[in-house]
Order: sequence, then C-alpha cells, then structure tokens
Amino acid sequence: MTQITMDTGDKKHDTAKIMPPTLANFHLASKYLLQGKLVSFPTETVYGLGADATNDQAVASIFAAKKRPSFNPLIIHLPSIEEAEKYVDFDITSRKLAAAFWPGPFTLVLNKKPGTLLSPLVSAGLDTVAVRVPEHPVVRELLENFKYPIAAPSANLSGKLSPTRPEHVARDLKDEVAMILDGPPCRNGIESTIAQVMGSEIRLLRPGSVSQRDIEEVTGLRVVPFEDGQNPTAPGQLKSHYAPRSNVRLNATTVYPDEALLAFGSLYPKDARIVRNLSPKGSLHEAAANLFSLLHELDDLGCETIAVSPIPPHGLGVAINDRLSRAAADNKE
Ligand code: TXA
Ligand code: MG
Repeated sequence: MTQITMDTGDKKHDTAKIMPPTLANFHLASKYLLQGKLVSFPTETVYGLGADATNDQAVASIFAAKKRPSFNPLIIHLPSIEEAEKYVDFDITSRKLAAAFWPGPFTLVLNKKPGTLLSPLVSAGLDTVAVRVPEHPVVRELLENFKYPIAAPSANLSGKLSPTRPEHVARDLKDEVAMILDGPPCRNGIESTIAQVMGSEIRLLRPGSVSQRDIEEVTGLRVVPFEDGQNPTAPGQLKSHYAPRSNVRLNATTVYPDEALLAFGSLYPKDARIVRNLSPKGSLHEAAANLFSLLHELDDLGCETIAVSPIPPHGLGVAINDRLSRAAADNKE
C-alpha cells in the first residue's frame, strides 16, 4: 500500500487515496463499502463512484458527493447474470442481450424483483433498475470480494466530465471517497450503452460501445434510439452533460487563434497553437478511449474554447458525438 498519508494543501493530498489493486486493498475497499463509505474504482468504461446498493445511507451519500439531483437513478454492478437474477426479472430478449454483451460496457434496464434488498434510492422510486455486469478486472475483483451489488455512477461531479483516470476522481471527489482503486486503463472510455426492452422493441437510452446495430443483430428487433426529452430520468441524456469548463465548438475545420484543438485523424488545421489528437490514425475505438482524458487535459489548460474536429457519425462515432454534443450544449450547470 502506498501514498496513504493525508498531507493537506499540496499535490500529495490529491493522490493520497489512490491505491494499487492489491488483495489487501480489495479487502479494505470491501470493508469501507460495508461501513457505508464510498469507493471509486476503474471499469472498462469510466471510473465509478461505488456504494453498497443495499444501504440507503451509503446510496444517499453518492447523490450528495456528486451533487446529483436525487431523481436520477443509478446503475447497479454485479459479477454475473446469476447474481443479477436475485434482484431483477429477465424477459427472453433481455436474457439474450445479457448473454451477448456481459461482461462488458452494456447496461440493461429491468423490472425489480419485489422485496429485493436494494435501496429504493438506487432506482429513485422507479419499478425498474439499471444493471450492468462489467468486465474490467478491478471492478470484477471488488464485486467478487464484496458480494453485494454496488451502485455506481461515474465518479465526477454531476454534469461534469467523466473520469477515466484516478487523478480525475481525486480532483473532483477526494474528500468524499474513502479510497480510489488504481488499475489498468478504462479501455472503452465512454459510459456503457443503456438499453431497455419494451415489448417488441428496444429503447436505446444511451449510445455507447455496444452499438444499435450490435443490439439489432443479437435480437432481430427494432432498436429505437433515444430522443431528447423522451426520458427525464436519464441525466446522461440531459442536453448539457459531460461538460468541461471551456466552451466546446464542434465540427471545426478551422481554428481561431485563442482556441485549443481536439483533433481526430491526420487531417486537421495545422495552425492550432495547442493540439491534442483523439486518434492520429483515425481509429474511433482509440478516440473513445481518449475522449474524456484529453478533454480533461485541454480543460485544465484553461483555454476559453476547445475546437473539435469532425468525428465520423457511424459506429462508435455515434456515442462519441453524443458525448461531444452534450459537452458543447449552452446551458452549462
Ligand atoms: O459505464 C457506465 O455505465 C458507468 C460505470 C461507472 O459503470 N456508470 C454510469 O452511471 O455512467 P451514471 O449514473 O453516470 O449513468 C446512469 C444512467 C443515467 O443516465 C440514468 O438516468 C440511467 O442510467 N438509468 C439508471 N436507472 C434507470 C432506469 N431505471 N430507467 C432509465 N434510466 C436509468
Ligand atoms: Mg455520469
């Protein structure tokens, strides 16, 4: 275990709670969770801010830490479909989807089983709950250790950029978490796809690495992409979300002198003063994995506007453009 001193006022303080994923630290993390404390951990999508999903007090402290409106429901994380079955009912189509995409960056909204131990705060009073079986080794090990469902939104302040590094979490939430587990990178880099089976069609509540077409191929059913305003319970779907402090200007093919550029591919305005490239070779997968960390980096430089090169609107580009358009929305919180 390293860096557990709690000096204040210097850089050490920011990283003090970042711990390597050792067996001793998994035990400690589970102990903290049992005590109702918050633990942050990497997943294949983004860092989560986790609490015991069966403990009202603990779940309430997630909302307080994130300054999140309490009507926004959370995702519960479980190690397997068998464990999930203790808490939710699967229809045939949802079962097919779970078999195809779990473990992985995919969340299903399902009907809660009556009388579950889940805190009602998790689903903000709804009869449904969002469930995900993640694949990142650190969250998996934590789930195996802890044995209860972990409720976890992304570990950022509500409406702000999602975290893909432990330092991002420390910056926003160091005083709120008991521990931040370090680990291998968040490979997918953007939040999980969220889907809900509604009779003979499937609602895509949030685009992500599992695409609309992937879902259609597995189920043979029509997938209806979410439209703004349809579902007030999905904060990731508010127009302004994932927002840096800087302004964000999309589809930039030229760059103004005071702007920083978030480029994609090899063709971009070469006169930009500050450039970060989502993927010099033009890979959408690489771009998704780099999206939030590069936005964090440019935002930290304090430039007024981040210009973003056009991102192809197909495949993973749909999810990347979804996050970027929310980052660019005017009505910042
Ligand atoms: O990749 C992810 O999903 C990450 C990692 C940590 O697992 N988590 C994440 O959680 O993005 P969060 O809280 O930032 O986003 C959860 C989304 C919200 O848009 C919420 O409204 C939606 O899931 N959601 C949760 N329960 C729901 C429900 N019962 N019905 C509809 N939407 C729901
Ligand atoms: Mg979030």
